[in-house]
Amino acid sequence: MYNLLKGKRGIIFGALDSKSIAWKVAERAHEEGAKFVLTNAPVALRLGTISELAKKTGSEVIPADATSIMDLENLVDKAVEALGGKIDFVLHSIGMSVNVRRGNHYTHQDYNFTKTGFDVSALSFHRVMSVLFQRDAMNEWGSIIALSYMAAQRVFPDYNDMADNKAYLESVARSFGYFFGRDKNVRVNTISQSPTPTTAGSGVKGFDGFIGYAEKMSPLGNATAMECADYTISLFSDLTKKVTLQNLFHDGGFSNMGVSTALMENFMKEYDAEKEVIEEPKK
Ligand SMILES: NC(=O)c1ccc[n+]([C@@H]2O[C@H](COP(=O)([O-])OP(=O)(O)OC[C@H]3O[C@@H](n4cnc5c(N)ncnc54)[C@H](O)[C@@H]3O)[C@@H](O)[C@H]2O)c1
Repeated sequence: MYNLLKGKRGIIFGALDSKSIAWKVAERAHEEGAKFVLTNAPVALRLGTISELAKKTGSEVIPADATSIMDLENLVDKAVEALGGKIDFVLHSIGMSVNVRRGNHYTHQDYNFTKTGFDVSALSFHRVMSVLFQRDAMNEWGSIIALSYMAAQRVFPDYNDMADNKAYLESVARSFGYFFGRDKNVRVNTISQSPTPTTAGSGVKGFDGFIGYAEKMSPLGNATAMECADYTISLFSDLTKKVTLQNLFHDGGFSNMGVSTALMENFMKEYDAEKEVIEEPKK
């Protein structure tokens, strides 16, 4: 390893189990010499296996529901105290849609569920940054990252209201990132990651098709959770100090593709079969 985060202090949100992207980021940050606090919603701490990760990385776990300002204030204060100084990096790796969980179609949402999903998945990013900003808890040249998905720009019908949440998340990275850059020399970015088999990812309807399609479309194939962790580490490191206000695609090239030969070949097989049916003479 490269000691890319030697001496740096961080807060990592969203490690539920070993499949979580945040889990891999924590493992890699530990390998690169960082000290950090792990956090998740109290219910996730009970259901998940975060204590295993805490033990492995020598980290403290501080519960915080990302929809609660009080929890976040407590988290930031305790993290600064436990780590012995201000924070250098923060990972927001939080997502949840009640409409997706309950199988509500995008055109027929329960708006109370929509509000809850927005609060958890999108507004929480503003809230986290607001607490860090107001408490002046970030070190100069620190780095804040949230995880996003390309449904913020393009239509993926089954991604449902999470598409709108990701659009807000990416916008907040730019808007808050301006103030964080101007006033505190801190950078803020989102990483737009390939479909990844985690608890949140697998909750999306038709996820197998979704991930398989992206794999066939991307010239480099889908990016794994561990590859996402590697990229995240580079963005926490001092090697990327002037990268800010960006939504950075980490998707094996998917986002710039129109069509791939692999998908075209599959399509043509179906298309030719359909044509045969159409061209059969009517009896
Ligand atoms: N898996 C994918 O295909 C994929 C692709 C692109 C982006 N992402 C994004 O990556 C991030 C991490 O998701 P993941 O795929 O690792 O799944 P995951 O299910 O492992 O992580 C989601 C986390 O959000 C946490 N969370 C939910 N409600 C919370 C709350 N109120 N307060 C604090 N934490 C809360 C969960 O406990 C969980 O740890 C999410 O933002 C997700 O949208 C995932």
